[in-house]
Amino acid sequence: MSAPAAIEVRDLSKRYGSPANGVLALDRVTLSIGSGQVFGLLGPNGAGKTTLIKVLTGISDITSGDARVAGFDVRSESLKVRARIGWVAAEVILDDDFSAWENLWLQAKLQDLKDWEDRARHLLQYFSLLDRKDEKVNRYSTGMRKKLEISLALLHQPSVIFMDEPTIGLDVATRRMLWDIITGIHKEFGVTILLTTHYIEEADALCGQIAIIDKGRIIAQGSPSELKSRIRADIVQLETSDGIALATLRAIPGVQDAWPQGNDWMIRVASSEEFLPRLFRAIPTDHIRRISVEKPSLETVFLDLTGRRLGQDDEPMRDIRKFYAQMRRARS
Ligand SMILES: Nc1ncnc2c1ncn2[C@@H]1O[C@H](COP(=O)(O)OP(=O)(O)OP(=O)(O)O)[C@@H](O)[C@H]1O
Ligand SMILES: [Mg+2]
Repeated sequence: MSAPAAIEVRDLSKRYGSPANGVLALDRVTLSIGSGQVFGLLGPNGAGKTTLIKVLTGISDITSGDARVAGFDVRSESLKVRARIGWVAAEVILDDDFSAWENLWLQAKLQDLKDWEDRARHLLQYFSLLDRKDEKVNRYSTGMRKKLEISLALLHQPSVIFMDEPTIGLDVATRRMLWDIITGIHKEFGVTILLTTHYIEEADALCGQIAIIDKGRIIAQGSPSELKSRIRADIVQLETSDGIALATLRAIPGVQDAWPQGNDWMIRVASSEEFLPRLFRAIPTDHIRRISVEKPSLETVFLDLTGRRLGQDDEPMRDIRKFYAQMRRARS
């Protein structure tokens, strides 16, 4: 038999606001996350990722359905749940005017931990921060801050860690460093990790299992390779100078589906190698402005399931968040 689930969610719904005109942020979500997994919740802005974490950590109440974390009911045994979970928020939680050690001390106070010093020292050692422990955190680099935030989350030896967009707003090098850290703490401390992300590569690189969430619903679940193998198709994105009729595209042999996205056509084909010569015969080549082919990836899985792209249209939003994150860090 497999190990008991670290997180078990059944028919979980969460509505913000009134039943009549509120927002249904989670719509009958069912998930089972085994102990010791790195599980990724992948979805676009507003999909319900943060809401799920808030509900599982007891910050938000549940509208209907059941959730158990670390073996305890989130509603009726919330204190037991809280004692066994750690949370790395997307927002900055460190106190800049405190040293790393003082931040750990504060965390121990907040959680009413006794005998936390050895654990704190071990964590600082693990993250190579021990010799900088008395320095004020406002002198830390972004990567060092992340390590300290994770140390705070691990201080009380939780069995489940929630990470809400852990790499948001980070530069590529720091993001990669964080990926190594996440894999490392998973191995070193044996924790189950539920992380949310809207970065496809992140979910692909880090997570053994993934659930794709969109508009509050889990629309697919499996390992990255299982998900990718589900679509035996390539996606061709086509921009033309003149309009083409949907019927023209659909008539090309091998085309499984076609739909407009902005000024482009998205075309799902059995094989792009066979499709492209047929396309060039079907429409005048000088009408083609741009053409790109995507082989099966988590991006095309999402595209296939929703008709939309996961990562693109939310970039302005990301920039604003990054800006705020930097502003907070610049605060001294
Ligand atoms: N406190 C709240 N009151 C009302 N609506 C909310 C509240 N928090 C979130 N929502 C709404 O619930 C939905 C899900 O939001 P949530 O923050 O969970 O999405 P997310 O997947 O974390 O998105 P992002 O990638 O932008 O962080 C959105 O429509 C959002 O506007
Ligand atoms: Mg969020």
